[in-house]
Amino acid sequence: MTSTDEQTAAVAAAHDLIQSYLVAINNPLLTSFDSLPDNAHVVDLGSGTGEPALPLARRRPDLRITGIDITPTLLDTARAKASAEGITTVDFRTMSMEKMEFADGSVDGIVSRMGLLMAGLTPFGPTLAEAARVLRPGGLFSVATWTDVASNPYTGIALPVLRQVLPEGTVPDFEAHFAESAQEGALERHVGDAGFTQIEATWFTWQTECPDFETWWQFEAGAGRLKSFFGNLDDHQRTAARQAMADTISQYRTPSGSYLMPATCRIITAHAGPRA
Ligand SMILES: C[S@@+](CC[C@H](N)C(=O)[O-])C[C@H]1O[C@@H](n2cnc3c(N)ncnc32)[C@H](O)[C@@H]1O
Repeated sequence: MTSTDEQTAAVAAAHDLIQSYLVAINNPLLTSFDSLPDNAHVVDLGSGTGEPALPLARRRPDLRITGIDITPTLLDTARAKASAEGITTVDFRTMSMEKMEFADGSVDGIVSRMGLLMAGLTPFGPTLAEAARVLRPGGLFSVATWTDVASNPYTGIALPVLRQVLPEGTVPDFEAHFAESAQEGALERHVGDAGFTQIEATWFTWQTECPDFETWWQFEAGAGRLKSFFGNLDDHQRTAARQAMADTISQYRTPSGSYLMPATCRIITAHAGPRA
């Protein structure tokens, strides 16, 4: 392996750590797919290392699922996981959710976990319009997303830590990305503006469990949205950041040494409207 290969493999491995933290979302996110007809085609937007394409394939082995992402190395991990489990109904393709290679009205369902409707990742309007374009009329749409910094433990914990160790003004106003999506009704309005109907938005709260401090640090520093800031810390800042992180998460420590952190996201379900 070259050092670049090793770095990208390390990013995929760090990214994959989040799977156990987010697994609780899968059931509420995927329940609505139980009603899809046999052999329906579902696209997972921003599938990363195969989530939630792979849990959906386990739940509905008859579906044809395409997981798309712009980061090929994450999809390599997703393919390896599918192959290790003998899952043959999911196809992972490098593709942007902003310009999908699917014909108009050709898809029965769209799913996304922390991909679509993620503030600061992709623009809401164009990606929702693209989702509406590829879905057949009545097609199913089910998306889980973070709506603000505080209820997402990854940014809620890492941002104050970085601000403690870096000079003032170095860490951007990340909260501003979420200023709109955190507002009551904002996401529903965007989904409605794209022509979706029967929109239901619920809050989902759970406790995300991390086995130990090192795993949490590896995720935050190696895969989270703030990884580039952790990557640029000098040795002194890194030591201070590790200590600040350990102090911050100590309130969530369980007797067994794991950490249980509260998390809240939104799950939005809707149906594609009739073709214009
Ligand atoms: C927060 S991660 C979520 C990954 C996965 N859904 C999960 O739950 O583990 C967001 C993903 O969106 C992908 N992404 C970002 N912009 C994208 C775009 N324009 N089109 C497709 N994927 C994109 C990233 O590469 C990343 O894998």
